[in-house]
Amino acid sequence: MRTQVAIIGAGPAGLFLSMLLQRHGIESVILELHSRGYIEERVRAGLLEYNTVQLMHELGIGERLRRQGLEHGGIELRFGGRGHRIDFRDLAAGKCVTIYAQHEVIKDLVAARLAAGRPILFETTDVALHSLDSKNPHVTFHHNDVAERLDCDFIAGCDGFHGVSRPAVPEGVLTVYERDYPFGWLGILADAPPSSPELIYAHHDRGFALLSMRSPEVSRLYLQCASDEDLSLWSDDRIWSELHQRFATYDGWKLSEGPITQKGVTGMRSFVAEPMQFGRLFLAGDAAHIVPPTGAKGLNLAVADARVLAEAFGAFYARGDSDLLAQYSATCLRRVWKVQRFSWWMTQLLHRFPDESPFDHRRQLADLDYVTSSRAASQTLAENYVGLPVQGHDISHAGARL
Ligand code: FAD
Ligand code: DHB
Repeated sequence: MRTQVAIIGAGPAGLFLSMLLQRHGIESVILELHSRGYIEERVRAGLLEYNTVQLMHELGIGERLRRQGLEHGGIELRFGGRGHRIDFRDLAAGKCVTIYAQHEVIKDLVAARLAAGRPILFETTDVALHSLDSKNPHVTFHHNDVAERLDCDFIAGCDGFHGVSRPAVPEGVLTVYERDYPFGWLGILADAPPSSPELIYAHHDRGFALLSMRSPEVSRLYLQCASDEDLSLWSDDRIWSELHQRFATYDGWKLSEGPITQKGVTGMRSFVAEPMQFGRLFLAGDAAHIVPPTGAKGLNLAVADARVLAEAFGAFYARGDSDLLAQYSATCLRRVWKVQRFSWWMTQLLHRFPDESPFDHRRQLADLDYVTSSRAASQTLAENYVGLPVQGHDISHAGARL
């Protein structure tokens, strides 16, 4: 087999990249470890930045999103038993975010790719990357128990944090920056109408809690727990009791309950591997970096990388211009680090830390007070939350190069 760009992984990074390449007339083959059913049902993120939504419409895959997505013009920060709204439309030039589950995005992307007759090879195993520092890299793998070889011009490593692409870079090339957090999130899906029209990020002495949703009938709720939390210790009653306490307000706000249909624990980590390129291998999305989930940036950051990479491949194939490919890593990392900063900031703002001092706690409350009472501070939160511009893609920020 031969293609122009071999894409490893059919997550948001790989699938968006393939659609963007198709728009440039560039051929690609996607190799995915799991089955179509598995990736289309895997419960993960659920919040799309303004630019991610615009891109789905531009790519002609926004029809279900338009019907089912829930547009949110703000969020609530809740602390000291009181809520404070951050109004995105006012503070971030009329922009909003949209609730639409990651696996729904995946379904839309897979359907569009297959409808266009472009290949995704599901359930490929033993994927290995070769000759990355030559002009003729190739990928070997097994598909339907047959050993295969895919020759290509470039490889896009979009296979997430646990994939094979990043480890294929020779030792000593990448510098890793990381931070672990001493807690995780216990997340549930519940058949209960969301108790608030917008998301609530709650700071509480018992730990952080987040109210989100998936539809007018389904709530998505998270609570801070230990990073190695044992789910078997969390009965449905215990989860609801904890959520009630963490969301409690002085004005008697009520959290509605319903049957819990899914439970899981997510770890929290900040991680960046630099550079995001080695020879003809380009890393995008979680393969290169991960953020703690507070602020919902992981998926959106993967999409931003895919946009920068597609532009660079476009320039290469249209004009033989490899400047953008050479700048890919630096261009992405500038934005990646701003998003890392924001995700870290939201995380440290809202969680209780096991080793925090009384000073840390008072400073955290002052930070919450400041961000909800200063227009400048709430505007900073709003413009990061709706999504920083992707280089060269945001008309309203034309000239403001990131
Ligand atoms: P991925 O979505 O991980 O896609 C990588 C793809 O590569 C996968 O389909 C995988 O099967 C495939 N793959 C892996 N190894 C191989 C291989 N060897 N060969 C071929 N294919 C391979 N973000 C948020 O913003 N909010 C959240 O609430 C949130 N919750 C999350 C919960 C969980 C359990 C996880 C794991 C992540 C969560 N994230 C969340 C992060 C967000 O989902 C990711 O940032 C996003 O999926 C990144 O997209 P990606 O395409 O880079 O990687
Ligand atoms: C969701 C996840 C997040 O991490 C977040 O900050 C907001 C919403 C969600 O899954 O809906």
